Order: sequence, then structure tokens, then C-alpha cells
Amino acid sequence: MKMRRPFIAANWKMNKTLSETREFIANFIPVVRDVSDIDIAIAPPFTLLRAAAEALKGTNILLSAQNVFYEEKGAYTGEISPLMVCDAGCKYVIIGHSERRQYFNETDLIVNRKIKAAKKAGLGVILCIGESLEEREAGKTFDVLLKQIEEGLNGVDLENLIIAYEPIWAIGTGKTATSEQAQEAHAYIRERLKILYGNRADESCIIYGGSVTPDNIDSLMACSDVDGALVGGASLKVDSFCRIVKFKKEK
Ligand code: 13P
Repeated sequence: MKMRRPFIAANWKMNKTLSETREFIANFIPVVRDVSDIDIAIAPPFTLLRAAAEALKGTNILLSAQNVFYEEKGAYTGEISPLMVCDAGCKYVIIGHSERRQYFNETDLIVNRKIKAAKKAGLGVILCIGESLEEREAGKTFDVLLKQIEEGLNGVDLENLIIAYEPIWAIGTGKTATSEQAQEAHAYIRERLKILYGNRADESCIIYGGSVTPDNIDSLMACSDVDGALVGGASLKVDSFCRIVKFKKEK
């Protein structure tokens, strides 16, 4: 048995309306009500956070935002601060998703500022890291992960911090990393965290993201360093996300 508590999160990305969110949550709650040995989180778009928080009140499901800005308040049109995200009922925020790095030019320095601001506001952080296909094929996977860890976590402690390994080539492509590839990357991440933080890294939750489905969740979760999943496409339907949350545990 692993000593770390599994963490399974739904990243809805830019999907769902208010009525779809209410319907999903109403159908999801009864199925996972009895799940007490893992942490479950849902990350809807900003516009749905408050309604989702209302619908999730009193349940075992945590609310997460998908992004946050690093300033507390002020003239930053279109941005949302960590305080606002907390105020809307979030306990977590996803930071540094590859889609944000790719489409919105988020650098490791920006990611680092966002993590610091989020933690200061009392939010748990899900930090996403991962290599592109070109980087993997060029044998640079570990170099990329190391840079993202060292620069992203510069001056940050591990308290309330989850790392999501999301190889970019596996996101939304149906091409999951094999259990061996996931385990290899997760073991490397933990090894680097140990160098930076010592044995505290043994308690760190390192989750996998990239085409996680009901068909591959059991074998991913059987890997000794895979502590959970960050699920995109398969988290949009209650049935498939429920099956992922109820993955088969190793004996
Ligand atoms: P998919 O599960 O759709 O591949 O997305 C993964 C992801 O990016 C989760 O953050």
C-alpha cells in the first residue's frame, strides 16, 4: 500500500455551462459520497466556481480553479486574484498547465510568482510540468522537468503542493504515457524533490495527466510513484470520471 493519499482531479478546461455544471455535480455527488480514502477535486472555469461551490457544499469534493494571476488586486483587466479564487470557494488552483505555457506565454518565472501568490492566499497548488514530443524524442525529458521544478518552485515550500506530470504529447491526444513512462518520470520528479527538500518529498503527491481514461487508470495508479490523476476529456462525463475516481486499488 502507498502511504500517500491519492488525489484525483477533473480539469474541465474551457467546457460546460451553468446548467451542465449543476447537472454533473448533482449526478456525481451520490456516486462518490462513500469515497473516503482519496481526495477528489473539480476545476471548472471561473464563471462556474461560485455555483459549483454552492452545489458542492458539505460534500467530500474539493473545488479548484484552473489559473490565477499573481497580483492581489488592482488594474489588471481580465485577471482573477488568488483572494477572489478563495472567496469563490476554491481550496486549490492549477498553475502552469501546458496550455497556459503554450497559448498564453507563461514562463517558469510567471509560474513561480503565481505559486507564491496562491500559497500566500492559502490555496493548495497543483503545479503542472511536462515535456513536448520534440523534447522527449531529443532525450531532453529530464532536463525539461528539472528546469520546470527548479524555477517553478524557487523559494516555495512543499506544503499543500501537488505536482502534476503532464507530458504534452499525451494531452488530449488519446496517447497515454505507458505506466513505465509515467513511473520513470514520477520517480525522477520525486528524486529531484528529495534533493531540494529532503525526505519530505516522500510525502509529496505526484499525479499524472494526459489521456487518462477508465481503461488506463488502474495500471497508472498501480505505479509506485503515481499518486493520482489530473483528468481532462474523461472528466467531462459523470460515468467515466466516476470510474476513474473508483480506480481499482492494488492489493
Ligand atoms: P486530457 O485528459 O484530455 O488528455 O487532458 C489532460 C490535462 O491536460 C489535464 O490537465
